[in-house]
Parts: sequence; structure tokens; C-alpha cells
Amino acid sequence: MSSPNSTEIEAPPHLLELLAKLHQRSLDEEALIKAPGGGYDKIRGSLQDDPAALKRYQDDLMRDKFIALDADKACFMYNLVRCTRALNVVECGTSYGVSTIYLALAVGQNAEAANKSTGEAKVIATEYEPSKAKVAKEHWHQAGESVEPWIEFREGDLLQTLKSDMPLIDFVLFDIWTDMVVPTLDILEPRLKHGAVLLVDNTVASRGGYEAFLARIKAENSNYKSMTLPFDGGLEMVTYWPR
Ligand SMILES: C[S@@+](CC[C@H](N)C(=O)[O-])C[C@H]1O[C@@H](n2cnc3c(N)ncnc32)[C@H](O)[C@@H]1O
Repeated sequence: MSSPNSTEIEAPPHLLELLAKLHQRSLDEEALIKAPGGGYDKIRGSLQDDPAALKRYQDDLMRDKFIALDADKACFMYNLVRCTRALNVVECGTSYGVSTIYLALAVGQNAEAANKSTGEAKVIATEYEPSKAKVAKEHWHQAGESVEPWIEFREGDLLQTLKSDMPLIDFVLFDIWTDMVVPTLDILEPRLKHGAVLLVDNTVASRGGYEAFLARIKAENSNYKSMTLPFDGGLEMVTYWPR
């Protein structure tokens, strides 16, 4: 599945068209970096054991790349946000804002159903690359009124931008470099609601990078329950049940 349709998400036609276009751009770029020598082979391979080198290489290679959440994962995420009636969502890793569009669309629809205003429901989006931040905002503007008003964009390093002024959180998407997941969870955990849902992308394909995170989530007596969903590369669905 390369783009969503109206049986999968409730969205106006222009938004389905925009998402199709953005997913296609992301897929075209991905095909180039996944080709032999394109760079992905190093990220998923030898560099997994050298976190510092992985970070440098990944930051350089991905600085201007979409690497959007796959459309099927994004549709699943949209429906999960809808059916859990989540109102406060955090997106860790925004890039050009594709997954943000799904999250904001779902949060806006939840807010409308619950008679809540933009002050009471939002997606907190996070990105530290200024050039991506600028284009993400343009995409949200093109997405229009069912999306843009529901996004609170925090530009900068999310380890700083998520430290304060946080609502109680219903839902988190982790779509960020693997080494950022544990430190980000440390910041967010005190704000997670009982039963909050976390979706974490690529937990099978980048298993090495997720070792510390998965060990924490799956530890005996952990406050989390989790399952690896069989999407391409793996998608971890985690729920939070503090004792
Ligand atoms: C996989 S991409 C996100 C894709 C996006 N969720 C989507 O589906 O369109 C990960 C993004 O996280 C950003 N990022 C990485 N480390 C960050 C940090 N410490 N603070 C903020 N953004 C960061 C990267 O610049 C990159 O654009």
C-alpha cells in the first residue's frame, strides 16, 4: 500500500491527494538510499554496533530525506488514535510532517466528537532540522483546516523541547533515531496517562538499536505491555500500565 484511501481514513479528497504525493516522494527517495551503496545498508548493518558513528552517518544521510512512516502503518496509527479517542499526542520525529498529518487529522476528529477546542487537544510535533521544519509547516498549511490547527510544533532537539509544558499524554509515535527513544521515554514517562499507547517504528529492522528500549519495555515487572506488529520492518505497539 503506497497511499491511503477513503475506506482507510476519513479525510477530504485534497488531503488524500496530498498524502499520496508525499508518500510517493518518500518512497522514491527510499528506493535510492536502499539501493546497494545508497547508505541504508550501512545503517542497518555494520554501523549498528557503533552508536557514535551510526549517529553521524545517519544524520548526514537523512538530513534532507523524508523517511515518512509507511502509509499502511500511518493508516493503522490514525485508526488507533481515533478509536482510543486520544486528544493529546506526541510525535517524536516529524521530518517533513507526513505522519503528523495523520495524527492531527485523527486528533481533530476526536476533539470535534468530544467538543474540545485546540487548547484541549493537540499533536506536539518535534523536529530539529530547520529546513525540514520549514517544509513541514508548508505541508500542514496545504493539508488545511482539518489538520493545521491541531499541531503544536516544537522546533529543536526534542530532549529539550519536550521537557516542559507537557499535557498528560494519550498517545506517542516514536519515529526517530533509535538512540533517542530511551532518553525521550525518560522525559515523557511521567506525563503518560494510564493506558497510554506508544507506537515505535522499525523495531524488527533496527532491532540492534532498540535493544535497551525493548529490554526496558519487556522486563519482568515492567509497567508496559507490548507486541511487535507484523508490518514491514516491525511496528511495536506498547501500552503503559503503571502500578
Ligand atoms: C524517521 S524521520 C520522521 C518521519 C516522520 N515521522 C514522518 O512519518 O513523516 C525522523 C526525524 O527525526 C528527526 N530527529 C532526530 N533526532 C532528533 C532530535 N533529537 N530532536 C528532534 N528531531 C530529531 C530527524 O531529523 C528526522 O527528520
